[in-house]
Amino acid sequence: MTITFKDERGIAGMRVAGRLASEVLDYLTPHVQPGVTTNALDKLAFDYITQVQQAIPAPLNYNPSGRNPYPKSICTSINHQVCHGIPSDKALKKGDIVNIDITVIKDGWHGDTSRMFIVGEGSIAAKRLCQLTYEAMWHGIVKVKPGVRLGDIGHAIQTFAEGQGFSIVREFCGHGIGQVFHEDPQVLHYGKPDTLEELKPGMTFTIEPMVNAGKRDIKEMSDGWTIITRDHSLSAQWEHTVLVTPTGYEVLTLSSGSPALPAFVTTTAC
Ligand code: MF3
Ligand code: CO
Ligand code: CO
Repeated sequence: MTITFKDERGIAGMRVAGRLASEVLDYLTPHVQPGVTTNALDKLAFDYITQVQQAIPAPLNYNPSGRNPYPKSICTSINHQVCHGIPSDKALKKGDIVNIDITVIKDGWHGDTSRMFIVGEGSIAAKRLCQLTYEAMWHGIVKVKPGVRLGDIGHAIQTFAEGQGFSIVREFCGHGIGQVFHEDPQVLHYGKPDTLEELKPGMTFTIEPMVNAGKRDIKEMSDGWTIITRDHSLSAQWEHTVLVTPTGYEVLTLSSGSPALPAFVTTTAC
Protein backbone atom coordinates (compact mmCIF):
# COMPACT_ATOMS: atom_id res chain seq x y z
CA MET A 1 0.00 0.00 0.00
CA THR A 2 1.33 3.42 -0.89
CA ILE A 3 -0.79 6.05 0.73
CA THR A 4 0.19 9.61 -0.18
CA PHE A 5 0.10 12.24 2.54
CA LYS A 6 -0.71 15.77 1.45
CA ASP A 7 1.33 18.69 2.77
CA GLU A 8 -0.10 22.23 3.06
CA ARG A 9 0.41 22.84 -0.66
CA GLY A 10 -1.33 19.60 -1.54
CA ILE A 11 -4.16 20.32 0.86
CA ALA A 12 -4.63 23.76 -0.72
CA GLY A 13 -4.80 22.14 -4.15
CA MET A 14 -7.29 19.53 -2.95
CA ARG A 15 -9.51 22.20 -1.41
CA VAL A 16 -9.77 24.03 -4.72
CA ALA A 17 -10.40 20.86 -6.76
CA GLY A 18 -12.99 19.66 -4.24
CA ARG A 19 -14.93 22.91 -4.27
CA LEU A 20 -14.92 23.02 -8.07
CA ALA A 21 -16.30 19.46 -8.31
CA SER A 22 -19.14 20.42 -5.96
CA GLU A 23 -19.81 23.61 -7.92
CA VAL A 24 -20.33 21.55 -11.08
CA LEU A 25 -23.19 19.79 -9.28
CA ASP A 26 -24.60 23.17 -8.19
CA TYR A 27 -24.45 24.31 -11.81
CA LEU A 28 -26.21 21.18 -13.11
CA THR A 29 -28.93 21.08 -10.44
CA PRO A 30 -31.55 23.34 -12.13
CA HIS A 31 -31.12 21.33 -15.34
CA VAL A 32 -31.99 17.99 -13.77
CA GLN A 33 -35.62 17.93 -14.90
CA PRO A 34 -37.98 15.56 -16.73
CA GLY A 35 -37.10 15.55 -20.44
CA VAL A 36 -33.41 16.41 -20.16
CA THR A 37 -31.05 13.82 -21.60
CA THR A 38 -28.01 12.74 -19.65
CA ASN A 39 -25.95 13.64 -22.73
CA ALA A 40 -27.20 17.23 -22.37
CA LEU A 41 -26.06 17.22 -18.73
CA ASP A 42 -22.70 15.79 -19.82
CA LYS A 43 -22.23 18.58 -22.36
CA LEU A 44 -23.20 21.27 -19.82
CA ALA A 45 -20.67 19.81 -17.38
CA PHE A 46 -17.90 19.50 -19.98
CA ASP A 47 -18.33 23.10 -21.10
CA TYR A 48 -18.50 24.44 -17.53
CA ILE A 49 -15.46 22.48 -16.32
CA THR A 50 -13.27 23.25 -19.31
CA GLN A 51 -14.33 26.84 -20.07
CA VAL A 52 -15.47 28.38 -16.77
CA GLN A 53 -13.36 26.40 -14.29
CA GLN A 54 -10.37 25.93 -16.61
CA ALA A 55 -10.18 22.40 -15.27
CA ILE A 56 -10.26 18.87 -16.68
CA PRO A 57 -13.12 16.33 -16.39
CA ALA A 58 -11.23 13.32 -14.99
CA PRO A 59 -13.57 10.57 -16.28
CA LEU A 60 -13.18 11.52 -19.98
CA ASN A 61 -10.98 8.85 -21.60
CA TYR A 62 -10.13 7.42 -18.17
CA ASN A 63 -8.85 3.86 -18.70
CA PRO A 64 -7.56 2.26 -15.52
CA SER A 65 -5.69 -1.01 -16.19
CA GLY A 66 -6.35 -0.90 -19.92
CA ARG A 67 -10.18 -0.98 -19.87
CA ASN A 68 -11.95 0.66 -22.76
CA PRO A 69 -11.66 4.41 -22.14
CA TYR A 70 -14.65 6.00 -20.39
CA PRO A 71 -16.36 8.02 -23.15
CA LYS A 72 -17.94 10.92 -21.23
CA SER A 73 -17.11 13.67 -18.72
CA ILE A 74 -19.54 12.64 -15.96
CA CYS A 75 -21.26 9.51 -14.67
CA THR A 76 -25.07 9.43 -14.56
CA SER A 77 -26.53 6.35 -12.86
CA ILE A 78 -30.32 6.07 -13.05
CA ASN A 79 -32.66 3.99 -10.84
CA HIS A 80 -31.24 0.41 -10.73
CA GLN A 81 -27.90 1.60 -12.10
CA VAL A 82 -25.42 1.48 -9.22
CA CYS A 83 -22.51 3.50 -10.62
CA HIS A 84 -20.54 4.46 -13.73
CA GLY A 85 -23.67 4.95 -15.85
CA ILE A 86 -22.71 6.48 -19.20
CA PRO A 87 -24.65 9.57 -20.35
CA SER A 88 -26.84 8.90 -23.38
CA ASP A 89 -29.63 10.42 -25.47
CA LYS A 90 -32.27 8.90 -23.21
CA ALA A 91 -34.28 11.55 -21.34
CA LEU A 92 -34.83 11.56 -17.60
CA LYS A 93 -38.46 11.14 -16.61
CA LYS A 94 -40.53 12.12 -13.60
CA GLY A 95 -39.86 9.82 -10.66
CA ASP A 96 -36.38 8.71 -11.79
CA ILE A 97 -33.56 8.92 -9.28
CA VAL A 98 -30.16 9.75 -10.74
CA ASN A 99 -26.69 9.93 -9.27
CA ILE A 100 -24.43 12.47 -10.92
CA ASP A 101 -20.76 11.86 -10.17
CA ILE A 102 -18.25 14.61 -10.94
CA THR A 103 -14.48 14.44 -10.80
CA VAL A 104 -12.41 17.44 -11.86
CA ILE A 105 -8.66 17.90 -12.07
CA LYS A 106 -7.40 21.39 -11.23
CA ASP A 107 -3.68 22.18 -11.16
CA GLY A 108 -3.06 18.43 -11.01
CA TRP A 109 -5.31 17.75 -8.00
CA HIS A 110 -8.54 15.71 -8.10
CA GLY A 111 -11.90 16.52 -6.46
CA ASP A 112 -14.54 13.75 -6.57
CA THR A 113 -18.14 14.08 -5.41
CA SER A 114 -21.61 12.85 -6.26
CA ARG A 115 -25.20 13.56 -5.25
CA MET A 116 -28.59 11.98 -5.82
CA PHE A 117 -31.31 13.86 -7.67
CA ILE A 118 -35.00 13.00 -7.72
CA VAL A 119 -36.45 13.96 -11.08
CA GLY A 120 -39.71 15.84 -10.67
CA GLU A 121 -41.58 14.13 -7.89
CA GLY A 122 -40.32 10.82 -6.51
CA SER A 123 -41.97 7.94 -4.69
CA ILE A 124 -41.70 7.73 -0.90
CA ALA A 125 -39.45 4.68 -1.29
CA ALA A 126 -37.13 6.55 -3.68
CA LYS A 127 -36.90 9.59 -1.40
CA ARG A 128 -36.22 7.40 1.61
CA LEU A 129 -33.42 5.51 -0.16
CA CYS A 130 -31.75 8.75 -1.32
CA GLN A 131 -31.99 10.44 2.09
CA LEU A 132 -30.81 7.43 4.08
CA THR A 133 -27.90 6.81 1.71
CA TYR A 134 -26.89 10.44 2.29
CA GLU A 135 -27.01 9.80 6.03
CA ALA A 136 -25.04 6.57 5.57
CA MET A 137 -22.22 8.52 3.91
CA TRP A 138 -22.21 11.03 6.78
CA HIS A 139 -22.16 8.26 9.39
CA GLY A 140 -18.84 7.28 7.80
CA ILE A 141 -17.49 10.85 7.52
CA VAL A 142 -18.07 11.75 11.17
CA LYS A 143 -15.90 8.81 12.23
CA VAL A 144 -12.83 10.22 10.43
CA LYS A 145 -10.05 11.11 12.87
CA PRO A 146 -6.41 10.11 13.40
CA GLY A 147 -6.16 6.77 15.16
CA VAL A 148 -9.51 5.53 13.82
CA ARG A 149 -9.24 2.65 11.35
CA LEU A 150 -10.85 2.23 7.93
CA GLY A 151 -12.83 -0.73 9.31
CA ASP A 152 -14.51 1.63 11.77
CA ILE A 153 -15.76 3.78 8.89
CA GLY A 154 -17.04 0.79 6.91
CA HIS A 155 -18.71 -0.62 10.00
CA ALA A 156 -20.54 2.64 10.76
CA ILE A 157 -21.89 2.87 7.20
CA GLN A 158 -22.86 -0.79 7.00
CA THR A 159 -24.64 -1.00 10.36
CA PHE A 160 -26.67 2.13 9.59
CA ALA A 161 -27.67 1.11 6.05
CA GLU A 162 -28.44 -2.50 6.91
CA GLY A 163 -30.36 -1.30 9.98
CA GLN A 164 -32.71 0.46 7.57
CA GLY A 165 -33.23 -2.78 5.61
CA PHE A 166 -30.92 -1.81 2.75
CA SER A 167 -27.79 -3.53 1.44
CA ILE A 168 -24.29 -2.27 0.71
CA VAL A 169 -22.51 -2.95 -2.57
CA ARG A 170 -19.17 -4.68 -1.87
CA GLU A 171 -17.39 -4.61 -5.23
CA PHE A 172 -16.83 -0.83 -5.35
CA CYS A 173 -15.40 1.34 -2.64
CA GLY A 174 -14.08 4.76 -1.76
CA HIS A 175 -10.45 5.47 -2.54
CA GLY A 176 -7.44 7.57 -1.77
CA ILE A 177 -7.30 10.56 -4.12
CA GLY A 178 -4.82 13.33 -4.86
CA GLN A 179 -2.66 13.78 -7.94
CA VAL A 180 -3.97 10.32 -8.89
CA PHE A 181 -7.74 9.71 -9.37
CA HIS A 182 -7.84 6.34 -7.60
CA GLU A 183 -4.99 5.65 -5.19
CA ASP A 184 -4.56 3.72 -1.95
CA PRO A 185 -6.21 3.09 0.39
CA GLN A 186 -9.43 1.34 -0.56
CA VAL A 187 -12.25 2.64 1.61
CA LEU A 188 -14.77 -0.18 2.03
CA HIS A 189 -18.33 0.73 2.99
CA TYR A 190 -18.67 -2.34 5.21
CA GLY A 191 -16.36 -3.90 7.75
CA LYS A 192 -15.37 -4.64 11.29
CA PRO A 193 -14.38 -2.13 13.98
CA ASP A 194 -10.67 -1.76 14.76
CA THR A 195 -9.50 -3.38 11.50
CA LEU A 196 -7.56 -2.20 8.43
CA GLU A 197 -5.43 0.94 7.94
CA GLU A 198 -5.15 3.53 10.68
CA LEU A 199 -6.03 7.08 9.65
CA LYS A 200 -3.31 9.74 9.85
CA PRO A 201 -3.37 13.50 9.21
CA GLY A 202 -2.83 14.45 5.56
CA MET A 203 -4.64 11.45 4.09
CA THR A 204 -7.32 12.36 1.55
CA PHE A 205 -9.90 9.81 0.41
CA THR A 206 -13.46 9.50 -0.76
CA ILE A 207 -16.42 7.98 1.07
CA GLU A 208 -19.03 6.95 -1.50
CA PRO A 209 -21.41 4.23 -0.34
CA MET A 210 -23.62 2.51 -2.92
CA VAL A 211 -26.80 1.38 -1.18
CA ASN A 212 -29.39 -0.93 -2.74
CA ALA A 213 -33.05 -1.12 -1.78
CA GLY A 214 -32.92 -4.86 -2.52
CA LYS A 215 -30.06 -7.36 -2.52
CA ARG A 216 -26.44 -6.26 -2.69
CA ASP A 217 -25.56 -8.29 -5.81
CA ILE A 218 -24.59 -6.39 -8.94
CA LYS A 219 -23.65 -7.06 -12.53
CA GLU A 220 -21.78 -5.18 -15.24
CA MET A 221 -23.50 -4.21 -18.47
CA SER A 222 -22.04 -5.00 -21.90
CA ASP A 223 -20.87 -1.38 -22.31
CA GLY A 224 -18.02 -2.36 -19.97
CA TRP A 225 -18.82 0.38 -17.44
CA THR A 226 -22.41 0.57 -16.21
CA ILE A 227 -23.05 -1.41 -13.03
CA ILE A 228 -26.63 -2.42 -12.17
CA THR A 229 -28.35 -4.25 -9.33
CA ARG A 230 -28.83 -7.91 -10.20
CA ASP A 231 -32.40 -7.83 -8.84
CA HIS A 232 -33.09 -4.48 -10.59
CA SER A 233 -33.87 -2.82 -7.25
CA LEU A 234 -33.19 0.90 -6.87
CA SER A 235 -29.68 1.97 -5.91
CA ALA A 236 -28.39 5.25 -4.51
CA GLN A 237 -24.94 6.74 -3.89
CA TRP A 238 -23.45 9.90 -2.44
CA GLU A 239 -19.78 10.84 -2.41
CA HIS A 240 -17.53 13.33 -0.66
CA THR A 241 -13.76 13.74 -0.69
CA VAL A 242 -12.42 14.19 2.86
CA LEU A 243 -9.12 15.18 4.47
CA VAL A 244 -7.91 13.67 7.75
CA THR A 245 -6.96 16.66 9.95
CA PRO A 246 -4.90 16.48 13.17
CA THR A 247 -8.15 16.37 15.19
CA GLY A 248 -10.80 15.00 12.84
CA TYR A 249 -11.94 15.61 9.26
CA GLU A 250 -12.47 18.31 6.69
CA VAL A 251 -14.98 17.72 3.89
CA LEU A 252 -13.35 19.10 0.74
CA THR A 253 -16.23 18.78 -1.73
CA LEU A 254 -18.60 21.43 -0.43
CA SER A 255 -20.08 24.51 -2.10
CA SER A 256 -23.02 26.85 -1.72
CA GLY A 257 -25.41 24.28 -3.20
CA SER A 258 -24.40 21.37 -0.98
CA PRO A 259 -27.46 19.84 0.67
CA ALA A 260 -28.16 20.49 4.36
CA LEU A 261 -26.30 18.30 6.83
CA PRO A 262 -28.16 15.45 8.53
CA ALA A 263 -29.33 16.37 12.04
CA PHE A 264 -26.65 14.23 13.72
CA VAL A 265 -23.80 16.08 11.94
CA THR A 266 -22.54 19.18 13.72
CA THR A 267 -19.69 20.34 11.48
CA THR A 268 -18.05 19.91 8.08
CA ALA A 269 -14.53 20.42 9.49
CA CYS A 270 -13.03 19.65 12.86
N1 MF3 B 1 -16.07 9.18 -9.97
C1 MF3 B 1 -16.05 7.74 -9.82
C2 MF3 B 1 -15.57 7.46 -8.41
O1 MF3 B 1 -16.18 7.97 -7.52
C3 MF3 B 1 -15.19 7.06 -10.83
C4 MF3 B 1 -15.66 7.21 -12.21
S1 MF3 B 1 -14.56 6.45 -13.24
C5 MF3 B 1 -15.32 6.59 -14.73
O2 MF3 B 1 -14.59 6.86 -8.12
F1 MF3 B 1 -14.41 6.30 -15.60
F2 MF3 B 1 -16.36 5.79 -14.75
F3 MF3 B 1 -15.73 7.82 -14.88
CO1 CO C 1 -14.68 8.33 -6.07
CO1 CO D 1 -16.94 9.88 -7.99
